Amino acid sequence: MRWTESFISTLWQAPSEAEILSHKLMLRAGLIKKLAAGVYIFMPLGLKVLRKIENIVREEMNASGALELLMPILQPEELWQESGRWEEWSNEMMCVRDHHKRQFGLGPTHEEIVTDIIRKEIKSYKQLPVTFYQIQTKFRDEIRPRFGIIRAREFTMKDAYSFDRDIDGLNKNYKKMRSTYCKIFDKCVLKYQIVEAESGIMGGDVSHEFMALADSGEDVIVLCPSCGYSASMEKAEVLNIKQKTIDKCPKCAGCIEIRKGIELGHIFKLGDKYSKSMGAKFLDKDGREKSIIMGCYGIGISRIIAAVIEQNNDENGIIWPESIAPYQVEILPLNVNDNKTMQIAENLYEKFLSKRIEVIIDDRNERPGIKFKDADLIGIPIRITISSQKAKDNIVEIHKRDTEENKLVDIDELQQFRN
Ligand SMILES: Nc1ncnc2c1ncn2[C@@H]1O[C@H](COP(=O)(O)OP(=O)(O)OP(=O)(O)O)[C@@H](O)[C@H]1O
Ligand SMILES: [Mg+2]
Ligand SMILES: [Zn+2]
Repeated sequence: MRWTESFISTLWQAPSEAEILSHKLMLRAGLIKKLAAGVYIFMPLGLKVLRKIENIVREEMNASGALELLMPILQPEELWQESGRWEEWSNEMMCVRDHHKRQFGLGPTHEEIVTDIIRKEIKSYKQLPVTFYQIQTKFRDEIRPRFGIIRAREFTMKDAYSFDRDIDGLNKNYKKMRSTYCKIFDKCVLKYQIVEAESGIMGGDVSHEFMALADSGEDVIVLCPSCGYSASMEKAEVLNIKQKTIDKCPKCAGCIEIRKGIELGHIFKLGDKYSKSMGAKFLDKDGREKSIIMGCYGIGISRIIAAVIEQNNDENGIIWPESIAPYQVEILPLNVNDNKTMQIAENLYEKFLSKRIEVIIDDRNERPGIKFKDADLIGIPIRITISSQKAKDNIVEIHKRDTEENKLVDIDELQQFRN
């Protein structure tokens, strides 16, 4: 990609409404633009990152054996009346009416829809277990949309739903999802903590949240260094209210530590909550009719971007991990009017393209100061700078965004770059 054709629009200063660093940096790097409160446009550079995360999630979900489908955003009110959640969700559900005045909700989550599929399709134990997932836009009319895409009203989620014959099956699937989530967040290079959580409006009695550790996080996590117990503050309070203490670990009575986090994902053992209310049954081996046992598993795909930035930045900008960086390499010719500089830069550019290395060349006729500033801001992992001085000797400078390591390299050596 050529910078001059890339439509990247960086800002020196973030709009004052941006409260936390990831929101500021996303706006300054031109990854997103605001359309309305909690509603954002993903610009081309930001969309590349979103797609990379989607691909990581898709790869790991497929590897776990889950099947991808795509459920509608438009959800008939009647299904939510059946599960009994229409009222419960009334504050957060965005609603529309069609011209017959039939009411629809814009999906904030998809338990009702997926349960409707299952109750129609599944008859026998032979069709179980099965896990479906999708990567889909969700709508939630958050009371307080904030922090950019962290708490948005329209956002991308990966949601998965497992269906089993019994609790044993659910436990197996739950464990599998938990380890799949670890692989996903490891690939995104996130530092996170798995905590016991409250199940709330989703239902069920066991759930865990994956929390990215970050001081700007809205969620409070309780950790016990003595026994390793960790829980969301909500969960710990529920347990501790019984014990009438707040600073003691509910498991070993050791002293707890408090951390802040951003919720990346949440997994639930739902049991028969939806299959009972909506009548999703199957005929078991023993000839008896039983309720299908469910689990559900969410990941905030768009929220991950912000969490990664919260954990990977410096005063100059974003520091992308390779796995989700919009480009792997940035070529930075300091003087685009110098022939030798441009000859080397263009050669390298072609070479990387032919090797399918994602590369961007800053071919703008701008001052070096501006180019360096923008390069740091958008945070491409490897930068190759070409100055007219060094170009004479066929030397370029390689800079690593994360370690700030600099290395002078002969371009012949670079030809072997990532063979
Ligand atoms: N408003 C939002 N904007 C962006 N991502 C969100 C939003 N709400 C939820 N998510 C993401 O979707 C995942 C699954 O949704 P879930 O219903 O479990 O969230 P939640 O418990 O409502 O989250 P929160 O407590 O942050 O409101 C969450 O773990 C989070 O990463
Ligand atoms: Mg919520
Ligand atoms: Zn403890």
